Amino acid sequence: MAESRESLHGEWSGRWAFILAATGSAVGLGNVWKFPYITGENGGGAFVLVYLLCIAIIGIPIMMAEVMLGRRGRRSPINTMRHLAAEEGRSPAWQLMGWGGLLAGTFILSFYSVIAGWAVAYFFRTAAGTFDGLTADGVGSIFTGLIGDPERLLAWHTLFMVMTTIVVARGVRSGLEKAVRFLMPALFVLLLVMVGYAMNAEYAGGLGQARGDSPFMAGLNFLFVADFGKISGNGVLVALGHAFFTLSLGMGAIMVYGSYLPKNVSIARTSITIAVMDTLVALLAGMAIFPIVFANGLEPGSGPGLIFNTLPIAFGRMPGGVFFGSLFFLLLTFAAWTSAISLIEPIVAWLVENRGHSRTYAATLSGGVVWLLGVGSVFSFNIWSGEEYQLFGKTFFDILDYLTANIMLPLGGLLIALFAGWRLRRATCVEELAMGAAPAFNLWYFVIRYISPVAVVLIFLKAIGVL
Ligand code: TRP
Repeated sequence: MAESRESLHGEWSGRWAFILAATGSAVGLGNVWKFPYITGENGGGAFVLVYLLCIAIIGIPIMMAEVMLGRRGRRSPINTMRHLAAEEGRSPAWQLMGWGGLLAGTFILSFYSVIAGWAVAYFFRTAAGTFDGLTADGVGSIFTGLIGDPERLLAWHTLFMVMTTIVVARGVRSGLEKAVRFLMPALFVLLLVMVGYAMNAEYAGGLGQARGDSPFMAGLNFLFVADFGKISGNGVLVALGHAFFTLSLGMGAIMVYGSYLPKNVSIARTSITIAVMDTLVALLAGMAIFPIVFANGLEPGSGPGLIFNTLPIAFGRMPGGVFFGSLFFLLLTFAAWTSAISLIEPIVAWLVENRGHSRTYAATLSGGVVWLLGVGSVFSFNIWSGEEYQLFGKTFFDILDYLTANIMLPLGGLLIALFAGWRLRRATCVEELAMGAAPAFNLWYFVIRYISPVAVVLIFLKAIGVL
């Protein structure tokens, strides 16, 4: 029975350990790398507004549901879904959701690790003072040089996957938990420093003459003034997909972390805390990056290289730039690391539970598979970047990114909402969420049954042009 079930992999030491680990999972490249570049590609303010709405009315309720299922099931997502479906008298087919999540996690981590490799490479670059006094063009050509070289990308990708595998092999308490304690607050402070720099940024030679604002105001305008003419149906889907991606929802990462959550912790309060911290980091990253984009006449919609083409310009000019710059990319590497761990943990937990492997063997095996798939993303930026290697104008990397964030995760989230809202008994939810106040629970229950699933479906329909 649920009451007596315990996790086979240990538990978090308490509420804050879970918040830190889940925030470590949520805060990563999604906030600092992906959010600014997709905001740039989708026209700014309106996209940001839709994204914030998705976090509030879809992300937070689904996060509560995912944590709830995990804590109730106390197993890897596949086994959790199997147990819960059996307990509630539902179809065993619900465990397919866990399998889908494993696949999504494998896909995401395979390209995530490649981008994390860029952050590692930039740590060494900044520390060596490579960006000192460079122009925007100089910074740009360093980025082009890096991604054009498959061997270097492969080396960084390999290093990052080895780092991830090692921490995952060490297990919940000693591996995952320790890594996040200090890094998250430090990243936050450093982003504040960058925003401080952006506040004082000035237009580079001649760029500002025609405009009456400062780059910082131009950046804020871009981020926060919504012009709905600029966002397409697909843009709305990308915003939804990113809400899932950035909160680590829809594939079992948060579910498996929830399965290590002690019984007496409030799921509602912790989920809101995590979502708020994650959103703050993304908005700060945007406020640091877009002023630099405008100050240097760069293109907000220039794609995945955005932060690597902008932040080093600032580091190359500000006092102490070598120090702040290398610290920034070091912290970004750590943020990516703590996210990567959560992407692979559902697989490792399942291999340990069902195949009886040791954590070390399970982590090595799954890390190896992910690494191999990642080679496709490495090549997407160089030898496979040509049109003959593309499908619908997308590279291998683009396809994995689009498929996972915009289709697999929202679909996983939809299933989580439907299972929690319509397949679990209401009494199970009441007991597991233990929210005390009836109005708060009723609000969540109404949202998870009607609002979140309907919103996800509507956004899908809009994106494929049915609406
Ligand atoms: N949320 C992380 C980020 O923003 C990435 C991530 C970690 C993730 N675990 C996940 C995304 C699970 C989707 C699903 O960088």
